[in-house]
Amino acid sequence: MTTGEKTTRPEGGPAPPPFAHPSEAEFARILDFYGVRWLYEPHSFPIRWEGGEVVEMFTPDFYLPDLDLYIELTTMKQSLVREKNRKIRLLRTLYPHIKVKLLYRKDYHRLLARYGFGPLASIDSPGLDRVLLSAEAIRKRVHELGHQISQDYQGKEPVLVGVLRGVLCFMADLLRSITLPVSVDFMSISPFGQGEGVRITKDLDLDIRGKDVLLVEDIVDTGMTLHFLLRYLETRGPASLRVCALLDKRVRRIAEVPLHYVGFEVPDEFLVGYGLDYREKYRNLPFIGVLKTQV
Ligand code: IMP
Ligand code: MG
Repeated sequence: MTTGEKTTRPEGGPAPPPFAHPSEAEFARILDFYGVRWLYEPHSFPIRWEGGEVVEMFTPDFYLPDLDLYIELTTMKQSLVREKNRKIRLLRTLYPHIKVKLLYRKDYHRLLARYGFGPLASIDSPGLDRVLLSAEAIRKRVHELGHQISQDYQGKEPVLVGVLRGVLCFMADLLRSITLPVSVDFMSISPFGQGEGVRITKDLDLDIRGKDVLLVEDIVDTGMTLHFLLRYLETRGPASLRVCALLDKRVRRIAEVPLHYVGFEVPDEFLVGYGLDYREKYRNLPFIGVLKTQV
């Protein structure tokens, strides 16, 4: 475990890194499940010198870039723990800006919960049934969508129009993976089914006449929202009008609407997180989860 070789997680590649211990493979699987990015043994730190020569290095097992944290895994075996603690103390003294933790197997979930991941984290968001899309899965897919849009709109300067408020995380991430000059605007409408008909509660600020407009939605359910907005946007004379939706709850569709870009097709369950809310809660979850059905 002291090679210091730069070993990164292969993006969808078949060969897993050569873990030195099964507990490392297990920890990597847990991280993947929660969508926490990781590098395996990416860096070796010199920790002892003799006569100007490095005589001892320390290579922590993992680096988690999202948390800016190095992790050394350990078992309950006391001799090993003492030795690892000694190295970690040296590392902290020599490199005070480095964050490093010694982690027992029983503490994996507790550590991740502190950063908002995993079953213990959902103690703070009771009512959640399970994770449907991990932060990592979302990140990858949004990046692919951004890439596709950048190719399709080459030579153009699209206007992204987001539908508030559920679209906020998706818009922020999609925007940053589009490599063209873009502008951004938002609209908001009153919800359907409240008797008084649909109203625009926030209109466009930009003039979209002659522009290539991409309407960005978090989730398409019955399709009523989108149907209404598309009809409205058409009246503003855009050069083109397309739709990009992160989630498509296809089985619930009432109004047929064209979706040009879709992140994921999802089942007929109530979803929260990554901007989606239930009564204004859960928007800040980094993943998309299924709300427990009320009994
Ligand atoms: P539609 O008009 O029925 O297509 O509904 C679209 C809007 O309903 C979305 O923009 C969301 O704001 C909301 N919505 C639909 N399904 C869900 C869900 O599963 N979780 C959270 N919000 C949802
Ligand atoms: Mg919405």
